[in-house]
Amino acid sequence: MNFFIDTANLDEIREAHSWGIIAGVTTNPSLIAREGRDFVSTIHEICELVQGPVSAEVVAEDTATMVKQGLLLRQVHEHVVVKVPLTPEGIAATAQLAAEGVKTNVTLCFSANQALLAARAGATYISPFVGRLDDIGHDGIELIEDIVNLYRDHPEIETKVLSASIRHPLHVHRSAQAGADLATVPFKVLRACFNHPLTDKGNAAFTRDWEKTGDTDIAAQVRRFLDS
Ligand code: E4P
Repeated sequence: MNFFIDTANLDEIREAHSWGIIAGVTTNPSLIAREGRDFVSTIHEICELVQGPVSAEVVAEDTATMVKQGLLLRQVHEHVVVKVPLTPEGIAATAQLAAEGVKTNVTLCFSANQALLAARAGATYISPFVGRLDDIGHDGIELIEDIVNLYRDHPEIETKVLSASIRHPLHVHRSAQAGADLATVPFKVLRACFNHPLTDKGNAAFTRDWEKTGDTDIAAQVRRFLDS
């Protein structure tokens, strides 16, 4: 399973990108609004930074405007993936954008039927919202499993399952176990995935013991070794 980061915050993207594990970024209108910056230049900056797929969402009610916005956003950067809501108008826009060769991420997916519609429209990614389903007493991970299995039963489907609305580290590895191709993970959750008290304890002990060797400069040791 590959990782996208789910944020429009440049500092978070920069730091996560420096870890070398981020394949792309997803944004949505709420995440963009939180940053208080210009939408298009933010998307462009993110694309330049990650050099991978960056989802930018259209905000229109009708298909024609969604397609128009999608084609415009696509001109901002070659890495832009047009994010489209899972409504009849959005699915029609997805089909039209796919026919034009534009990559799409169909968002706000809460059922296997919706995922099948997105696949038939030629969506590049389908984003089932795990956390928001859990919030209403459903099992978000079960939906990921259902969609993965359905898509596997229909090998002609090329749509990738992008586990979204991730709230905690358990959602991350459960998404991978369920067979998601990718998960889009908020910075805070991604950072939490590193944490384990035994890692911290072990690392502190190794650092302390290394000091006891009395010769802690590895570069100098290597140079001496190579010169000898
Ligand atoms: C990503 O594509 C979605 O917009 C995002 O994961 C939604 O997450 P939320 O339910 O935490 O807002």
